[in-house]
Amino acid sequence: MKILVTGGLGFIGSHTVVELQNEGFEVVIIDDCSNSSENVLKGITAITGKTPIFEKLDLKEKAKVEDFFKRHHDVEGVIHFAASKAVGESVEKPLLYYENNIGTLVYLLKELSKKNKASFIFSSSCTVYGQADKMPITEDAPVKPAESPYGNTKQMGEEIIADTCKVTPGLNAIALRYFNPMGAHPSTEIGELPIGVPQNLVPFITQTGVGLREELSVFGDDYPTEDGTCIRDYIYVVDLAKAHVIALKRLLEGKNKENYEVFNVGTGKGSSVLEAIQSFERVSGKKLNYKIVGRRPGDITTAYADTTKANEILGWKAEYTLDEAMKSAWDWEQKIRR
Ligand code: WQD
Repeated sequence: MKILVTGGLGFIGSHTVVELQNEGFEVVIIDDCSNSSENVLKGITAITGKTPIFEKLDLKEKAKVEDFFKRHHDVEGVIHFAASKAVGESVEKPLLYYENNIGTLVYLLKELSKKNKASFIFSSSCTVYGQADKMPITEDAPVKPAESPYGNTKQMGEEIIADTCKVTPGLNAIALRYFNPMGAHPSTEIGELPIGVPQNLVPFITQTGVGLREELSVFGDDYPTEDGTCIRDYIYVVDLAKAHVIALKRLLEGKNKENYEVFNVGTGKGSSVLEAIQSFERVSGKKLNYKIVGRRPGDITTAYADTTKANEILGWKAEYTLDEAMKSAWDWEQKIRR
């Protein structure tokens, strides 16, 4: 069965391609390589022994998307990762985000709407909750006004999919709201490859650990939390990738109860920035060089998932601990800096 993975050369996309191949799916990747490298194909092949079909294509080009689906009319499911995802950049370049994250989604859904049956998995984010009032966060927590155009494209994306599924009998979709993805495949053949200075915490930690960065700046220790630093739900990327395959199978096998469903994908456990640093120090045996600086604008204090729905309905549960995920991130960082 042929599955399209858009953004399949990216961090979460490539790990999901591996898990799809492990489950026997034929994978075709579309990626414009704007934030990823074609070399990732070698890493995927090194792990599974199978090279996915790859087409370098910009999903903003409507005619190209139509042509793709004519040539690959046997695609039965799509896992859609391709999107711009830097919160800060989205504030400076909103139209780039609306065109790239929304325009492309509309083109994909138009093609899938032409099919008798199609399954669609959408890469969403806990960012839709903003600072939720209650912890852990359940899927019916109110969606708060987005704090960035990036977050807005995730909220709008979910609504566009829900509206389309309502009037498209053959289209079934699941949105997965990721918490904070981290780590790398245990083989160290694929992992996170941030371009330039990493915005996210974990790659900044490992780049500091390997000497690429002088020191980590901890953005504030005056939050109303136990140690004063922000709390997040750090989910191992392989656990997250497996959730995509399980969600896709739910749709392909017609087990979904609604034609549009939403699931949180997290560990259900919150960890502070200082706890993440302590985790790195445990698994690497190294002292991390860091300093406390002022808060980063737009940061929320606390976010961690209620995973009951994913555990009991989707049948998925995170298996790896923060230390195991951090160790995989550290092994990967050391390998790519050799
Ligand atoms: C985590 C914590 C920072 C860097 C973002 C997006 C979210 C999703 C994941 C795409 C925060 C602190 C960070 C640093 C630090 N992306 N930090 N020093 O902001 O929770 O989520 O990435 O879907 O949509 O918003 O992740 O890793 O940037 O920050 O102290 O150098 O680490 O303040 O408390 P975040 P993050």
